[in-house]
Amino acid sequence: MLPRTALESAGTTPFGVYVHVPFCRTRCGYCDFNTYTATELGAGVSQGGYADTLLHEVRLAADVLGGRVPEVSTVFFGGGTPTLLPAEHLGVVIAEIRERFGLAAGAEITTEANPETVTPGYFARLREVGFTRVSIGMQSAVPRVLEVLDRQHRPGRPEEAVAEARAAGFEHVNLDLIYGAPHETDADWQASLDAAVAAGPDHISAYALVVEEGTALARQVARGIVPPPDDDVLADRYVMADETLTAAGFEWYEVSNWATSEAGRCQHNELYWRDANWWGFGPGAHSHVGEIRWWNVKHPARYAALVESGASPAAGRETLDERARFTERVMLGVRLREGLSLDDLPESAETVTRQLAGWGLVEHPALSSGRIVLTQRGRLMADAVVRELLN
Ligand SMILES: C[S@@+](CC[C@H](N)C(=O)[O-])C[C@H]1O[C@@H](n2cnc3c(N)ncnc32)[C@H](O)[C@@H]1O
Ligand code: SF4
Repeated sequence: MLPRTALESAGTTPFGVYVHVPFCRTRCGYCDFNTYTATELGAGVSQGGYADTLLHEVRLAADVLGGRVPEVSTVFFGGGTPTLLPAEHLGVVIAEIRERFGLAAGAEITTEANPETVTPGYFARLREVGFTRVSIGMQSAVPRVLEVLDRQHRPGRPEEAVAEARAAGFEHVNLDLIYGAPHETDADWQASLDAAVAAGPDHISAYALVVEEGTALARQVARGIVPPPDDDVLADRYVMADETLTAAGFEWYEVSNWATSEAGRCQHNELYWRDANWWGFGPGAHSHVGEIRWWNVKHPARYAALVESGASPAAGRETLDERARFTERVMLGVRLREGLSLDDLPESAETVTRQLAGWGLVEHPALSSGRIVLTQRGRLMADAVVRELLN
């Protein structure tokens, strides 16, 4: 159940859907996402039955929301590796979402895809079941870096996958890149950026490698086997990404995301960043409606047992008060190219924003027209800007 207050504004707030697929063939040493290899998974859950399991939660969501949300404007299958499942299984979930909630005209339907799991035929089937966008995990073009990251695809395969996706009719294709891996050089990173651009996607995400606690990478760093990413190196690599992508006709629209046009932006992520509503299906998925945020049990077997018995898979929930929602709006809004409206900040923030512009972190012209938009230097220090604004 959701409180009346959360549902009241739901009818006028865009609504998106996230579908988590918690399977991977092998685990990359840097990754702490909620995903399981066949040996980690244990009994009680199968990849073959997973789509049917998800349908239980889609129906539960429809009961809880009871027609009080608009038609779904974005669907995003993430993982894990959604493309380990047959495209038809993903299609069954899309069909249920359409049936229970309706899909808005022109809805964006994305799946993440590991390059080694897709073929021309698979992309064609993704199109047939309704996908409009694919996001391919490239990470790097350099063999040594792919090896350090434990990636399973051969160099060159992501670029081929972009061409296959285009040939299958995908207008929107993203490549994910990671910079700052152990032993990566500036020249390696430049080669990855150049290869990504040459592949012809309309969107590129570039993320600084984060050493997540509890991962194999964190253990290697702790034992001194590999060096931790260096902040100054990461900053230089970000500048390289921004300059290369801008020169190639991409425009940043969020600190880590660039697109060749407005139509190429990831509308699903924009929905998260703009404080809209979404339901996350699957183990460990997070949801947000109005002032309520909740998250599901993490293990796929526990998740399956709950939803198949008609119970909610939610493990916990929190009510965001005005202060928490304000903090999130500032944290996420300031990372966007459209920036943050000065109207969303208290008047006392004016002195700070002028100071931030003086330091070259915030664009002067945008500020004059009432918006806080980060300069390239500001994007390198986005967290510090957020701290100043919140203080
Ligand atoms: C969790 S993966 C899921 C999609 C797919 N399995 C793949 O690997 O491409 C989504 C993206 O998260 C990013 N990612 C995961 N762990 C990260 C980390 N520790 N630091 C930076 N980026 C990370 C990678 O760029 C990856 O493409
Ligand atoms: S990065 Fe992607 S492929 Fe690697 S373990 Fe994480 S979810 Fe799986």
